[in-house]
Amino acid sequence: MGITSFHEAARLGEIIIIALPWSCLKDVLETIDPAYLRNKTIIDVSNAVHFDNGPRLLLQDTSAGVIVQKLLPESNVVKTLNTISDKIMIHPNFKEGSPIMFMCGNDNSSKDQVRALLKDIGWTTVVDLGDIRQSLLQESIMLACVISEINLQSPGSAFALLRH
Ligand SMILES: NC(=O)c1ccc[n+]([C@@H]2O[C@H](COP(=O)([O-])OP(=O)(O)OC[C@H]3O[C@@H](n4cnc5c(N)ncnc54)[C@H](OP(=O)(O)O)[C@@H]3O)[C@@H](O)[C@H]2O)c1
Repeated sequence: MGITSFHEAARLGEIIIIALPWSCLKDVLETIDPAYLRNKTIIDVSNAVHFDNGPRLLLQDTSAGVIVQKLLPESNVVKTLNTISDKIMIHPNFKEGSPIMFMCGNDNSSKDQVRALLKDIGWTTVVDLGDIRQSLLQESIMLACVISEINLQSPGSAFALLRH
């Protein structure tokens, strides 16, 4: 593994993960030749969120995932992992049980690819919410999770679906 430019990473990568602050994401994507990203699976973990004066979503009636897909119309954007702290993105082990990981995107084969990757890094419960417009739900869930962590003084938390 090495460090390279965004441009080169996009050219060489088979699957691309976008993990950029919202404030620079558009500018960075515009530096990349779209041909390098054409037909590739793009995992978008970004959140358009503001933390000053209490956490809140920056976008109204749309979502970061939808905007990333619009910026990369020839790529297959899959939104996932945005709801969880980077410290527990891999091998999420919780004493209480298995947290849930959501994903959404327009291309089913890219979602299958991402599901397999998520399984490899320890996510046993993955729910496909639908097309990329459902990114709005995931970004709202992220915010609800952050507020819950603050209220309950419980950093590094994750949502789980409790079953009978
Ligand atoms: N941190 C988390 O726990 C977490 C969890 C879920 C989702 N997310 C989302 O993931 C995204 C990244 O979060 P993060 O916490 O990893 O952010 P970050 O550490 O602030 O930034 C990630 C990387 O983006 C690059 N970067 C920052 N500003 C840049 C600029 N102006 N131009 C070009 N590159 C720049 C930097 O790369 P270089 O170091 O190479 O400059 C940096 O390492 C956000 O949208 C966030 O909401 C974060």
